[in-house]
Amino acid sequence: MNKEVNLLDQRAREVLEGNDKGGYTIPTAGLYPYQWNWDSAFAAWGFSVFDIKRAWQEIETLFAGQWPNGMLPHILFRQDDPDYFPGPTVWGTEGIGPISSSGISQPPVAATFIRAIWEKDQEIGKDHLLSLIPKIKAWHKWFMEWRVSKEGAVFITHPWESGRDNSPDWDGAMSMIVPKDIGEYKRRDTSHVDPSMRPTKADYDRYLWLVQRGNRLGWDETSMAKDQPFSVADPTLTFVLLRANKDLAFMSSTLGLPTDEIDQWCRTLEMGCASLRNPETKNFNAINLKSGEHTGHLTSASFLCWYAGMGDKSMLDLLKNTLQDTLYPIPSLDKNSSKFDGLRYWRGPTWPILNALIGLGLSDMGHEKEAETIRSRTRELISRHGFAEYFDPITGIPGGGKAFSWTAAVWLAWASPSVGAK
Ligand code: DGY
Repeated sequence: MNKEVNLLDQRAREVLEGNDKGGYTIPTAGLYPYQWNWDSAFAAWGFSVFDIKRAWQEIETLFAGQWPNGMLPHILFRQDDPDYFPGPTVWGTEGIGPISSSGISQPPVAATFIRAIWEKDQEIGKDHLLSLIPKIKAWHKWFMEWRVSKEGAVFITHPWESGRDNSPDWDGAMSMIVPKDIGEYKRRDTSHVDPSMRPTKADYDRYLWLVQRGNRLGWDETSMAKDQPFSVADPTLTFVLLRANKDLAFMSSTLGLPTDEIDQWCRTLEMGCASLRNPETKNFNAINLKSGEHTGHLTSASFLCWYAGMGDKSMLDLLKNTLQDTLYPIPSLDKNSSKFDGLRYWRGPTWPILNALIGLGLSDMGHEKEAETIRSRTRELISRHGFAEYFDPITGIPGGGKAFSWTAAVWLAWASPSVGAK
């Protein structure tokens, strides 16, 4: 392996180690000072390349925050940090879970990375897996019980649940919310990164209004489900949960555990994925469940179909076009959309984490050439511009937080030329 690759691999490890707060990893200092759910799962995947015990520890500290109803929170507030808003007092979840946390979840990528970590060393992994399987199952069951539409798609009740906070997929549903009486508040994110890269104030007013509603209702899912003001069926969650359930079923059956219930979840979610197919655009879109309409946006989440085993020829044609006309695919929003904004968070930038999931799915389904194109261009981005949160898909300019854990993890476990070369 050449010197430059060794240096980048080394730098990626340093990013993960630098964000390690002692058993758990923060996404990046300043902007995200706590343990985030899917960030942690990616970090564990990255750690598994050079320290498998630390990888299991990351997963275990994440699951330590699981609520009694199975929900695995999207943020664990392990120590108070006034530099982040909205913090624990705004969420008001005290006494519900074992660790101070937010009241919503995030894309359940953990089962898939747990499988990858376990497959690296089944001897070390076996006991970890045995204790984790019931916890993963309880989390997935919570999704199936509280977040699945009658068509079988997974919907979000807050944009942060999707992980794609300000995607245009939520614009229609967000505009139906009137964020009354939220009071004065001070954002912190815009003091860490340029406001032009972050969600707008109109978005934040609504994010906060939804958090305040959950707080008022004690985060009780039955109460929150009544007159739910925001519910959008999301391709990220639907594809990711289907894939996660397939991996959970695989691990369970290997350990001799029953899989009937999980298999049934997979059938439901397969129907849900089909419901996301927009009859007009033919690709997979979010659906605003309040209006019943597909959003019409082609996003990077649309291309997660292979990750869930649901890809087809029309999606492959669309993917090939995207690869042809975008220097650094996959943009989080089609660059021909009037809403495209190359550096504003989920409204255009290319995200190494989504690229890795899409690439894994394509490889699994035999589309090695397309997977390799995405991988090599993601590699080029990171080698040239560092371990940023995301990048402009046209210019490659880095955006958001720097020294980002999940970008370092994606480098180590997927994008680096040293992957597969050892
Ligand atoms: C943030 O604070 O921007 C996070 O994405 C919310 O989870």
